[in-house]
Amino acid sequence: MAIYLDNHSTTRLDPRVLESLLPWLTDHYGNAGSVTHDMGREARAAVDVARETVAAAIGGAAREIVFTSGATEANNLAILGAAARRGVARGHVITVATEHHAVLDPVEHLERIGFAVTRLPVAPQTGILSLDALEAALRPETFLVSVMLANNEIGVVQDISAIAERVHSRGALLHVDCAQAVGRLPVNVDALGADLASFSAHKFHGPKGTGCLYVRRRERAVRIDPLVYGGGQERGMRSGTLDVPGIVGMAEAARLAVENLPEEPVRLRGLRDRLWRLLQAGIPGIAINGPPLHDLALRIVNNLNVRIPGVDGQSLLSTLGGAGLALSSGSACSSESPRPSHVLQAIGLDEDQARASLRFGLSRFTTADEIDRAAQIIAAGVASLRSL
Ligand SMILES: Cc1ncc(COP(=O)(O)O)c(C=O)c1O
Repeated sequence: MAIYLDNHSTTRLDPRVLESLLPWLTDHYGNAGSVTHDMGREARAAVDVARETVAAAIGGAAREIVFTSGATEANNLAILGAAARRGVARGHVITVATEHHAVLDPVEHLERIGFAVTRLPVAPQTGILSLDALEAALRPETFLVSVMLANNEIGVVQDISAIAERVHSRGALLHVDCAQAVGRLPVNVDALGADLASFSAHKFHGPKGTGCLYVRRRERAVRIDPLVYGGGQERGMRSGTLDVPGIVGMAEAARLAVENLPEEPVRLRGLRDRLWRLLQAGIPGIAINGPPLHDLALRIVNNLNVRIPGVDGQSLLSTLGGAGLALSSGSACSSESPRPSHVLQAIGLDEDQARASLRFGLSRFTTADEIDRAAQIIAAGVASLRSL
């Protein structure tokens, strides 16, 4: 069995989640939109309960949840939907150089069709966004700012509530990509001050292909245009037959993530720190990318990202892959492209350093034995590559 340490890319489905969603894939296959009969009504009821559960897990209200196919779609809906609502391709959007491509690419699309865009740099090494830089970039015509909560490569956690204050004081909307945060730190859309927030079930032991966009409907209600038109599902915000098993599974995964919140991050942090200690002992010259591990407010507990001088990144990854280690050297979502990680470059690494970096993501199912074996395999791999 592979040692799976690529949990920022995706996570294993929790068996309890599988159990919760299976009946909706088999016997209970009604369409949640067909409420003229019992099978449709029971599917609708299951979606209603799931919507409540997901909303409660993130501190929102059920009517603020728009189910999507994942965080990519949620990010696109937030960014393109906020822009489309304006009716004209005018205005200014701010985002950050270290965002996921599921934010950077829709923003780039807006730029191509006429919107002004600012991509803010981050601090070298830590990846922290400067509030002063944000403040200076805000313009009267800025209508949207998109900043992620926890970074999928270097784990940096941005100070979203402070960012929200600045953004709101200038009358713009704040979108927050929360894909990597659920189950690793408490996520509350009110405490964050998010107007729009994206989530993805498969990042917290739920099924792939389901996520949601939180759209604030209480005070400061937010209006965005849909991207997909059709049957008018999700209050017209996202047409298409609802994925009942995915939605039920996402809700169970969210419930478990919140239920495990007090203990799971502590355990993950212990394992992550153990991994770092072992790597540090076994690999001379190894260094951390991203904020310091001990600063709990600045870095998610299940993330480690290291650079290993004196080895070629591609050779290292193929050596480790051959030894049964599943991990990544950049954002897995872009690993088909051989380009070095834009996040690592944004924090000051050159191309070779970025290529010779490894990203570890730990999960609920990671064991201490796996950590010990992984560290041994990596130290041995590095030693053999360095001796060539
Ligand atoms: C921060 C972040 N946003 C968005 C996504 C895309 O999520 P999904 O796979 O649900 O489309 C990812 C996946 O890697 C991510 O890490």
